[in-house]
Amino acid sequence: MTSPENQSTHDAETDPRNDDIKIYVNGDIVPKDQAVVSVYDSGFMLGDGMWEGMRLYDGEWAFFDDHMDRLFNSCKAVSLDIGHGREEIRDILNRTAAANGMITDAHCRLMITRGRKAKPFQHPALSKWGPTVVAIVEHSRPATGLLDRGIRLATVPQVRGLPHSQNPKFNSHSKLNCVIACLQAEQAGADEGLMLDPNGFVNTTNACNFFIVRGGEVWTSTGDYCMNGVTRQKVIDLCRANGIPVFEKNYSLYEAYGADEAFLTGTFGAQTPVAEIDGKPIGAGRGAGPMTQRIRALYKDLVAQNVAEQRAARG
Ligand SMILES: Cc1ncc(COP(=O)(O)O)c(C=O)c1O
Repeated sequence: MTSPENQSTHDAETDPRNDDIKIYVNGDIVPKDQAVVSVYDSGFMLGDGMWEGMRLYDGEWAFFDDHMDRLFNSCKAVSLDIGHGREEIRDILNRTAAANGMITDAHCRLMITRGRKAKPFQHPALSKWGPTVVAIVEHSRPATGLLDRGIRLATVPQVRGLPHSQNPKFNSHSKLNCVIACLQAEQAGADEGLMLDPNGFVNTTNACNFFIVRGGEVWTSTGDYCMNGVTRQKVIDLCRANGIPVFEKNYSLYEAYGADEAFLTGTFGAQTPVAEIDGKPIGAGRGAGPMTQRIRALYKDLVAQNVAEQRAARG
């Protein structure tokens, strides 16, 4: 049954300014109610597109290069010509943020699809007018209550699959696989779905990457079946740089249920503590434990450092 108190890692403080934001659509920055794409768009029709979520801190998009590496790699892999260079993308995002008077605490969803099709069928060559480029930038502060309460996970039957089905590293417009997992979690009374890999090992959640802490060690999945999350990699790098033992390895629900702490990672929420998995409390069963808090603090500093470096590099 769906809990009346369902929450998600993408909960943000309600901000009425988002009702009137301006959105970038194919070269124009227009009011939200005029920001539309064609029903023939390949993104709408087929989920044929890629996206990136990024956060704006003090006028800079944190880890911009990492996000662009993933986006350009993904688009190349599906022969989707973005039609813009990295600096043009940065300019699009900056102009959209500026049009909305945003400098910090903003989150963007940059979407690139193969574009408008001549006919309502699948063949990529039918996308004669493309790409479609949209940037939604919203005022955004992750809801703070989640840090105290933690998120509830339920293990779901839906898996993130093998690279030769739909590679789980694609941040594709079609999120149906993840949406099904999220529905299954909701039906189990949880907030987010914990997805296993095709071999039954703990993998990832429907919207974030997943970590556990056991005996002072930080564990996450091998990375073979999950999104190559920018935040995931930053957490691994931070652990290595700060003498925290970190392992990308196979482990099962047995180890996850018995973890001292667990947390999710993603651009939106940084590190979100997990309160329970399948009704079993993790650690103290509420907010962030000591390792999660330590990693959160290290990550916050890393964001500040990255933002300062970007600003210095661009004068
Ligand atoms: C399925 C999934 N896993 C993990 C992530 C987190 O990735 P990142 O840390 O790059 O935001 C995302 C975000 O797009 C996602 O969709």
